Amino acid sequence: MLLTMKEDPNSPFYSNLHAQHFSPGWARPEPSMWAEPKPKFKPAVWRFAQAKLALDASHNMVPADQTERRNLIMVNPIEGNTYASTRHLVAAYQCVTAGDRARTHRHSANALRLVLKGKPGIATIVNGTHIDMHPGDVLLTPGGCWHGHVNETDETGYWIDFLDIPFVQLSEAMFFEPYPGDGIEPVTSRGPTPMRIPSAEALGPGRDAKVVEIAKDVMPTIALHLIRLPKDGRHASPKSTVNNIYAVASGKARITAEGFSETLGHGDVAAMPSWHAHAIEAPEDTVVLRVSDEPLMTKVGLLRTAD
Ligand SMILES: [Fe+2]
Repeated sequence: MLLTMKEDPNSPFYSNLHAQHFSPGWARPEPSMWAEPKPKFKPAVWRFAQAKLALDASHNMVPADQTERRNLIMVNPIEGNTYASTRHLVAAYQCVTAGDRARTHRHSANALRLVLKGKPGIATIVNGTHIDMHPGDVLLTPGGCWHGHVNETDETGYWIDFLDIPFVQLSEAMFFEPYPGDGIEPVTSRGPTPMRIPSAEALGPGRDAKVVEIAKDVMPTIALHLIRLPKDGRHASPKSTVNNIYAVASGKARITAEGFSETLGHGDVAAMPSWHAHAIEAPEDTVVLRVSDEPLMTKVGLLRTAD
């Protein structure tokens, strides 16, 4: 119900309620329930080329002991938002420059990475396992796993981080712990490990249209799907309560929704929030990683698709 002159919020009655931390249900500035989702988050796009330029320029801006923060967070451009890419998930471009050692830590938030540019010697260490980062790899660090990064090459490595930090923040259940000692976890193994999923291997040979779920049930809040499309292929998603982030692992993808149409190249990212029917079209052979909160929405009984 909207405010009326009669319900002047500056009147003694209402200002008294306000001082007592009450909000009268009959004079709310906006309703608290509505007929169907009306997401505040918007479809949005971020470009790897722009991020790479800025990350490269930031070389001397990041203190040597904070190289784990050499990242650019993809902030959904809605009023009041300073962090999240969608309601429950955040994505960020990150790099490790030659010689960088990003301190090991662990947190209750689940995290994963899609490697954009890497080679042996650019590595993530997860629970003591040294994992070289190859382009197209998906690397998992479920909540509670120690993880840090090293770059023993002379090139910069780049990837996209995806985390459920916005959800963990909303749920007031954040824990974070730096690794003791000098901050870098010693390597006790060099794999193989289920924490590294090369996207080409997961999809198998061929170029036919295919959707493969990877890391199923590894993270309680995040689902990962690799979507492979041949040239002129199309993948449509109905309006649902799932919040998605898409990243192009290879090729090009045109992502469309009502009022939104963007062509993404390698490493580009699009947010596609709840209740937006959308489609991905491939002007060339393409692989897209879809990162979503589908398991979370399923577990809390809020997964719903429009009729
Ligand atoms: Fe982390």
